[in-house]
Parts: sequence; structure tokens; C-alpha cells
Amino acid sequence: EINVLLFMDPGIDDALALMYALLHPNINVVGIVSGYGNVSKEDATLNTSYVLTLANRKDIPIIEGAKGPITGEISVFYPEIHGETLGPINVPPSFALPVEPFSKSFELIETYKGNITVIATGRLTELAMLFVLHGDVLNEYVNEFFIMGGAFMVPGNVTPVAEANFHGDSIAANVVMERAEKVRVYPLNVTHKVIVKPETIQKISSTSQNPFQPLILPIYTYYFEAYKKQWPGIQGTPIHDIVPLMALVNDELIQYVQRKVSVELSGEAKGESIADFRPKTLVEEQKEPSYIAWGINEQAFLKELTTILIRP
Ligand code: BDR
Ligand code: CA
Repeated sequence: EINVLLFMDPGIDDALALMYALLHPNINVVGIVSGYGNVSKEDATLNTSYVLTLANRKDIPIIEGAKGPITGEISVFYPEIHGETLGPINVPPSFALPVEPFSKSFELIETYKGNITVIATGRLTELAMLFVLHGDVLNEYVNEFFIMGGAFMVPGNVTPVAEANFHGDSIAANVVMERAEKVRVYPLNVTHKVIVKPETIQKISSTSQNPFQPLILPIYTYYFEAYKKQWPGIQGTPIHDIVPLMALVNDELIQYVQRKVSVELSGEAKGESIADFRPKTLVEEQKEPSYIAWGINEQAFLKELTTILIRP
């Protein structure tokens, strides 16, 4: 089992990624930092509580994340994509579970030192704060950082050039890219290569026997309706946040290029992810600090999705 500390903003695709992680036999979720992003911090925490309650995993600590980006700006949320709480489901406030203070995230990293992977599928505010406070220790104790974010030379999803997680706190994203020594980045370039069709979700929904079964089709359908407005003609939806989790336990799924990533901090190109993709020799490439996911095996992704999401 791989111990994983999650930083998330559930959010429909985060919620699906969390379900995948909880159902996967080789993943052990040790904690979930829930912060603002797709929805407010409070709603993200409520949605996390809801998924953990359905899974009967109230033992997993939920940790308080950030309310907004490092700059102190007020964030905008995306109810038109992710719902008022979780898509069409208005999760009752009574589901809210107790929340641990943010310091718990570092305590968990200390507890599992040398045997823990960090996966971030939301804004990078919290992770950047940990890097600012404890950067060297983080690089020593955490095996690897897996980050869903960025869009390299392809259209962004919140601005023409920027992806939502990098745009939502561009300063934090750049801090993480600068400081994390073993980092894998999963940008829109790969997440948009796997479009999950309604038929696939219907099949999962009709064969699944786990506690998430009643949720899968309604939240996906809500997400798909929202996607159609943003990407006319799209035949389904990407499920961005599942990609890094799937990559963690499926070595052959993704092909990477090694390049340093930086993030545009402000202005019109705020949140744009930049890397120098000009050809390099293998020796030069191996000196580059981060791996960028560049290719994905679509068939393997869909097979894994349908296998894991129906597990009891
Ligand atoms: C990312 O932004 C959020 O909307 C999604 O949950 C995902 O993490 C995609 O750009
Ligand atoms: Ca997310």
C-alpha cells in the first residue's frame, strides 16, 4: 500500500478521485487537506465529509485547508460546474465531520516520513505554505509530489492560457514548482486526452455495488452538462483529478518529459505554465527537475476506471 496525503478542492472530479483512492487496494489515504478552489473551503470540506461518510471511513482525518490564495484576493467559485455543494446533490450540513488544524498535515508527513506521497488536485496554496515553512524537510520526507495542474501550449480552461489550479493561486503554484525536488505534473495536455463518455459511466453505475454507486451517474451527468457549455461538441468529460492517482499505482499509464516548470505570476498570462520544450539530449533532460505527463494510454485508463470504481 502506498500512503498518500491528499490536497483537494472537491469538486466533482476531486470527489471521483477520492472515491478511486478509497476503493483502490494499493492506496492508503492518510489524510485529506480540503480547501477552496472549485467551491468554498466549507463546501469542499462538506463534500469530503460526505464521501468519507458514505465510505464508512470517518477515521481518515480531514484537515483544514485555505480559504483563498496567498495574495488575500477573494476567490471565485464554480457552482455552474461543480454544483452548490456536490453537483446536483445538496449535501446536508449535518454530514460535516470534525476538521483537524492545518498543522496536522505536517504531522502526518513526519509520521510517515520516507513512506508518503503527496497528491494535490486543487489550488496549491496549502502545499506552498508547507514549502515555505518546511521545504527541506518536505523534500526529504515525501517520496514524490503529484500535481494536477497546468496547460502547456494548449488552451487553458479558465483563461486562454491558464488552467484553473495554477491560475487560482499562481504564486503558490510557482513556489511548489520551484521548491519541490521530486515532482510530477499532470496538465490539461494529458487530462484532456481521456474523455470519459456517458456510456462508460452508465456501465460503472449499473455494475457497481459500492456505497458510491448512487452518486456516480448524477454527479457525472451534472459535470457533463456543464462541460458541454464550455467545450461545444465534447462527447464526455475529462476527469482531471483521477489522473495523478491512477498514475501513482499504474507505472505504464503515462509517458513523461523532463523539464523545469515555471508559472506566470500575474498579468494577462497569470497562471500560464511554461517549460522549455526545445530539444535536449538525454543527459541534459535527465538533469531537469520535474516530470511533465505528456502521453497517456487511453485504453488502460478506461479499463482501470471501470475496474476500480465498481469494486465493493
Ligand atoms: C482542475 O481544476 C478544477 O476545476 C478541477 O477539479 C481540476 O482539479 C482542472 O483544471
Ligand atoms: Ca480539483
